[in-house]
Amino acid sequence: MDSFIIQGGRPLEGEIEISGSKNAVLPILAATLLTKEPCVIRRVPNLSDVHFMGKILQSLGASFTYEQGVVTVQARRLKARGDYDLIRKMRGSICILGPLLARSGKASVSMPGGCVIGTRPIDLHLKGLRALGAAITIKEGYVHAKADALLGSEVFLGGRVGPTVLGTANIMMAATLCEGVTVIESAACEPEITDLAQFLVAMGAKIQGAGSPRMVITGVKQLHGAEHEVIPDRIEAATYAMAAAATGGEVTLHHMRCDHLAAVLDKLKEAGVRLEARGSSLKILAGGTIKAVDVSTQPYTGYPTDAQAQLMALMLKAEGLSIITERIFESRFMHANELARLGADIAIEGPSAIIRGGLPLSGAEVMASDLRASAALVIAGLMCPGRTQVNRIYHLDRGYESMDKKLRGLGARVKRTQGR
Ligand code: UD1
Repeated sequence: MDSFIIQGGRPLEGEIEISGSKNAVLPILAATLLTKEPCVIRRVPNLSDVHFMGKILQSLGASFTYEQGVVTVQARRLKARGDYDLIRKMRGSICILGPLLARSGKASVSMPGGCVIGTRPIDLHLKGLRALGAAITIKEGYVHAKADALLGSEVFLGGRVGPTVLGTANIMMAATLCEGVTVIESAACEPEITDLAQFLVAMGAKIQGAGSPRMVITGVKQLHGAEHEVIPDRIEAATYAMAAAATGGEVTLHHMRCDHLAAVLDKLKEAGVRLEARGSSLKILAGGTIKAVDVSTQPYTGYPTDAQAQLMALMLKAEGLSIITERIFESRFMHANELARLGADIAIEGPSAIIRGGLPLSGAEVMASDLRASAALVIAGLMCPGRTQVNRIYHLDRGYESMDKKLRGLGARVKRTQGR
């Protein structure tokens, strides 16, 4: 298993390109199953999750090629069940359920288990598909869905903590080929949902209200092939912005959407970081001191849970106390203990982490536990003097395209080695 060796304590400086969004491209790849015709997706990040999804599509009978950021998929004929082992390993693969069911009238996927960030239920996905007329059974760890015909319906997708992103994606995709009109109330408003809707519309789907809590989808008989360019990854952009701020650097991010990052940029400004947005570029100037800020994660347009760990790393530098409250996933503070190995003082009280910033930090060996927790450890490693070894960085390879290379481009001393 690879590790990163970071010699920290120097500011990041320079410019980088933000890659296409992982969380947008996974459901978009699943959506290609809705048509027999070829689809071409551009600006696809070179990530292990993307290649994993490619293997899942191939196991379902589709052709899949990846060449320099361009994916071509064609699902001429489909099998109702793919490789269960592959599907089980990637949570994002749950979004093949809707398209498979809509296209071939049946679908089986393995039931996702919990993960390190908490339980990951799919009750809302199943509720939505049942509302469209699917018969669903759960047997021996697998979800089996069947429907002779899917019928448009009204579906409320708000859950315990708000809307579901992939649940909205699943129901929206299934509804494109339903007979009649589907109304999704309390739909997720994340930019990745809007991007998926744009791709589906390019395929011939009729969708109104994407990006709002009420979506109306009028079913069509069939969809056709389409081309699409994936939106920039807002979480990758947030991560590099935090890294720039945490190291007191000066970094320009290109090919990004500041409008997708309003909550994150607002917090950075509150923390005293100077930001200069120009078109699709954002300059982060972080020479001064960092102020402690409080934040609660929320569904979009609120502060994203996927950028919570990175903010915690930044807050290690702020004088005073900051409180970070996690409202989306109950145990998403695995990074706190590892940050403590670098000298951080973080107390977890229920859903909140209380961070006493401004303490001296020094490099240490730490263990990545999930994708965004790993990003926080890398940011902390870049901040603190000495050598930090981040183990198990396969988590980072799932969601950050060439992170070590991009960081080296900003002057960081980061090396990938075969570690533990
Ligand atoms: C997606 C993102 C993930 C991000 C999350 C929240 C992808 C591949 N992943 O995950 O990076 O952290 O959105 O922004 O796009 N819930 C239920 N029942 C359900 C489904 C979800 O109660 O059927 C709950 C979850 O436990 C969680 C909340 O709803 O508390 C939000 O989860 P959801 O939006 O579904 O996350 P994902 O779509 O899986």
